[in-house]
Amino acid sequence: MTKKPKSLGLLALHGPNLNLLGTREPEIYGRETLEQINHRLQETARSAGLRLECLQSNHEGVLVDRVQAARTDGTGFILLNPAAFTYSSIALRDALTAVKIPFIEVHLSNIHAREPWRAHSHFTAVAVGSVLGLGSRGYDLALAYAIARLKGSRP
Ligand code: DQA
Repeated sequence: MTKKPKSLGLLALHGPNLNLLGTREPEIYGRETLEQINHRLQETARSAGLRLECLQSNHEGVLVDRVQAARTDGTGFILLNPAAFTYSSIALRDALTAVKIPFIEVHLSNIHAREPWRAHSHFTAVAVGSVLGLGSRGYDLALAYAIARLKGSRP
């Protein structure tokens, strides 16, 4: 019997401390909670007929495991805010290049306008692109791109 191919889906991965959005330094990261952001993204994906799974973790290995699982679960595109792992996680970067799933790097704040050590990301060079400094709207823009790409038009 041939296996039914899984429909393509999207994955939003959020790194450490993003579970605190809403109360975490709102002057930098805004007042929206991660739950509100994820809910909005899921509504948008659903309207486009696509599934979107969201995962936040403070643990590097959990994110690495999820990226590895994405290789065989029909994930066609990843939105990733690596948060503080932006500066440290070769493991997460290697997982993304290993599975070869295109991804957009999203940061709520403009990491180039902050402390100098925030400016160098391990992910930018292997991402399709990055969205910085637009607050939670950055996720919506990244999702719009991902949806268009999964639906066959290359914006
Ligand atoms: C962040 C920026 C990072 O420098 C920081 O460590 C974060 C959040 C952002 O979304 O602006 O945790 O990725």
